[in-house]
Amino acid sequence: MKHLLKLSDLTPEEIIGILNLADQLKYEKKHGIAHPRLAGKTLGMIFTKSSTRTRVSFEVGMYELGGLGLFLSNRDIQLGRGEPIRDTARVLSRYCDGIMIRTFDQSDVEDLAKYGSIPVINGLTDYAHPCQVLADLMTIREHKGALKGLNFCFVGDGNNMANSLIVGCLKVGMNVSIACPDAYRPDAQIMAWAESTGRFTVTHDIPAAARDADVLYTDVWASMGQEDEAAVRRAAFAGYQINDDVMAVAKPDAMVLHCLPAHREEEITEKVFEAHANEIFDEAENRLHAQKAVLVKTMG
Ligand code: CP
Ligand code: NVA
Repeated sequence: MKHLLKLSDLTPEEIIGILNLADQLKYEKKHGIAHPRLAGKTLGMIFTKSSTRTRVSFEVGMYELGGLGLFLSNRDIQLGRGEPIRDTARVLSRYCDGIMIRTFDQSDVEDLAKYGSIPVINGLTDYAHPCQVLADLMTIREHKGALKGLNFCFVGDGNNMANSLIVGCLKVGMNVSIACPDAYRPDAQIMAWAESTGRFTVTHDIPAAARDADVLYTDVWASMGQEDEAAVRRAAFAGYQINDDVMAVAKPDAMVLHCLPAHREEEITEKVFEAHANEIFDEAENRLHAQKAVLVKTMG
């Protein structure tokens, strides 16, 4: 695997291969087995948006693999002062062995890969969050034992998370339903592909989408960069919440996931969040293991 730009670039076999390696790396870490598969290698980590999980899990992940993660904030590097992405790509390719980037435009991630000569990993754009979804699939498989045939329901904004969840969950054989307002649907091209699988529905009817769900998922109503739209979005998404009513129509053993950070009493109630905190923080932990697998597959 050369890069991780978006999940639609990966085959189902490549996704399962990452999950299998992630499970192995998690096992090795829990048993104190050192795994310096990237000894001497450096990952440049560009952030033009905030992050807790992505930043810490990539930096710790590189350390645990025997390499180095370099935190490159947009506020500090020349990219933030207008140095072109294609020049940044060529410079970092002379120093580093891989680049992870969190930014706004998907085209910037694709351009890093195009103009650089080292692997590029997408740590979130407005379009996609593939690393998160690999951790999500790992967590679902851990808790449910398998992925194929599970009913997955996302409630909320048709955003980067929804886009990547649709692709990731469908590729591994799950059924996907999305409940969102008509004006906030996921990416049209992704939905067209999703519909061709025959295992995808999108609706504004939350109980219809959540009925018999094995996994319920939600994300914030206003993503990073949409702070100015927060009031409009609060009105548009009122009711698009995982709460007791939604849990009542899902399967009795349904799990609940959230990529975090969460806004309690907006997209999820405090009560449901805390009842499923074990799953949600397993999911956060699995960012580390899943990304280490991606690092090994791309930079190893
Ligand atoms: N879920 C996620 O990507 O979290 P951060 O924004 O903290 O990295
Ligand atoms: N949709 C959210 C996800 C954060 C991990 C955002 O882009 O801000």
